Amino acid sequence: MEPAPPAYVPTNELSMTLLMTPDRANFSGNVHGGQILKLLDEVAYACAARYSGCYVVTVSVDEVRFLKTIHVGELVTFLAAINYTGRTSMEIGIRVVAESPRSRQSRHVMTCYFTMVAVDDEMRPTPVPEFKPQDENQRRRHAGARLRRELRSEVERRHAQIKQHPETRSPSSADPAA
Ligand SMILES: CC(C)(COP(=O)(O)OP(=O)(O)OC[C@H]1O[C@@H](n2cnc3c(N)ncnc32)[C@H](O)[C@@H]1OP(=O)(O)O)[C@@H](O)C(=O)NCCC(=O)NCCS
Repeated sequence: MEPAPPAYVPTNELSMTLLMTPDRANFSGNVHGGQILKLLDEVAYACAARYSGCYVVTVSVDEVRFLKTIHVGELVTFLAAINYTGRTSMEIGIRVVAESPRSRQSRHVMTCYFTMVAVDDEMRPTPVPEFKPQDENQRRRHAGARLRRELRSEVERRHAQIKQHPETRSPSSADPAA
């Protein structure tokens, strides 16, 4: 009798390295920001889907800031990790590092945070395995993710309040999207 396959242990990290080819350039000859956004979404999807074993959808993205230009010919590495899990949602943190293969110099170009929700065949949110941080780094990221989740809830609560009672809106909270 064949031994039973080992139990599946959710993998909470994933990395992907890609060469920035000329077809990814914008008019100035550097890598187009939209290309990086698409790749970030794919990496977040891959990390969350592999961790949860489910289809997942993107619900929100926090803190997308391009800190440095990415050049054609560079290698770009996306380092993704599950930072936090709720009941059905997961926060995936992605650190992006660009590296010139010739100079071997690398630099941090961005860190951002995706919230992905696991869904069933009817596209209803479905539970994910709880992520329990194991080391100091994971605990730090977990605490940051929990704070961001609380801040998001607070922002949504205030938006809902302003929509219901526009007269409570202060001049400093002007929001063109509201
Ligand atoms: C994701 C989706 C299924 C959630 O549906 P919903 O009715 O809001 O479901 P719930 O209220 O049960 O929330 C599910 C989870 O999403 C989280 N969530 C909902 N809105 C959120 C937001 N704006 N930001 C972060 N998380 C959010 C909730 O906190 C909850 O997480 P938890 O279970 O870990 O606590 C639904 O919003 C959806 O289908 N959105 C479209 C997703 C999509 O198409 N993405 C691609 C864009 S092109």
